[in-house]
Amino acid sequence: MSAMKTIVHDSIQCPSCYGPLKEQATGLICQACGRKVPLNGEIPLFTTPPTGIKPSEKLVRGPEIGTPWRRANWRFLEHQLARLDRQARILDVGAGRGDFDALLSDRQVISLDIYPYPEVDIVCDLTQANPFKQGSFDAILLMNVLEHVYETRAFMAALSELLRPNGFLIVAIPFMVKMHQVPVDYVRLTEFSLKRLGPDHGLALDELKGYYDPLFFLAEGTGNLRNAYLPNLGKSQRVVARFLLGGMQLLSGGLSRLVGPGRAHPPAEVRSLAPTGYQAVYRKI
Ligand SMILES: C[S@@+](CC[C@H](N)C(=O)[O-])C[C@H]1O[C@@H](n2cnc3c(N)ncnc32)[C@H](O)[C@@H]1O
Ligand SMILES: [Zn+2]
Repeated sequence: MSAMKTIVHDSIQCPSCYGPLKEQATGLICQACGRKVPLNGEIPLFTTPPTGIKPSEKLVRGPEIGTPWRRANWRFLEHQLARLDRQARILDVGAGRGDFDALLSDRQVISLDIYPYPEVDIVCDLTQANPFKQGSFDAILLMNVLEHVYETRAFMAALSELLRPNGFLIVAIPFMVKMHQVPVDYVRLTEFSLKRLGPDHGLALDELKGYYDPLFFLAEGTGNLRNAYLPNLGKSQRVVARFLLGGMQLLSGGLSRLVGPGRAHPPAEVRSLAPTGYQAVYRKI
C-alpha cells in the first residue's frame, strides 16, 4: 500500500472478518475472507459513495475567514487540538474538503468521509461498515457532520467504539443555521439531546458550549428578506422595504459595535437564547 499514509495503512482491517488487507492493482483484498475493497485512485471505498448529492467545493479557510460560526469552529478546534498529545491518533470524520487541514498538518490524522473528496484518506459510512479496531483513536473530530447523519444513535455508538478509554470526541454541530448540503441535512439537536446522547453511548460530556451571536442571526434574516422576499414585492413597496432594510442594517452595525462579536459559553447561562450552534467535548468512559 505504498501511496497510502502510514497511519491509514496501519489502521485499517477487513470490516467483515477483521483480517489483514493487502493492496492489489484492483483494490484491497482481505487475506482471510477474500472481501474486496475497491479504490478510487488511492482512496479505499469501504462503503459506496452516495449519488445525487452536490459535492462541496474547495474553499479557502482560516481563523478569520467565513461566517462567525465558522470562525468560532476554528477557535474551538484549535483550542481542543492544543490539549492533545502531539502523537495523538486522530480520526477526522466527515472531513469533507479538509477545511481544518491547516490545523491538522503536523498531526497523526486519518480523514474520513462518505464522499471521495481528494483530501480524504478513506471513504466509509461507519454506520454501515467499520474498518478500524476498537479503541484505535485518541480523538475523533466531528465538525459539522452530525446534522447530516440520519441514524444519530447508531453513528454515536460506532464512534464511541473507536475511541480508546479517556479518548475525546470533539463535536461542532449547527443549531440555528440554514439548511445546507440538501437533501442530506437531517437534524438539529438541542443541548438536551447532546447531554443525553453521550452517556447513552459510553461517553461523558466534559464540555458543552453554545455559540451565541444574535446579530449574525439578524444579518441572516435581513439577507433572506433581501433575496427571497423583496423580489416578490411591487416596485414602490420594494423601494420602501429597501429603505427600511438599510435602516435595520445601520442599526445592527451600531449594535454590533456596542455588544461586540458572538461568544461561546455554557447554555445554562442563557437558557432562553437559541445558539448558532453547539460545541461539545465527550470523553470515552
Ligand atoms: C458540512 S460538511 C463539514 C466538513 C468539515 N468537517 C467542516 O466542518 O468544514 C459535512 C461532511 O460530512 C460528510 N458526511 C455526511 N454523512 C457522513 C457520515 N455518515 N460519515 C462521514 N461523513 C459524513 C459529508 O459528506 C460532508 O463532507
Ligand atoms: Zn475479511
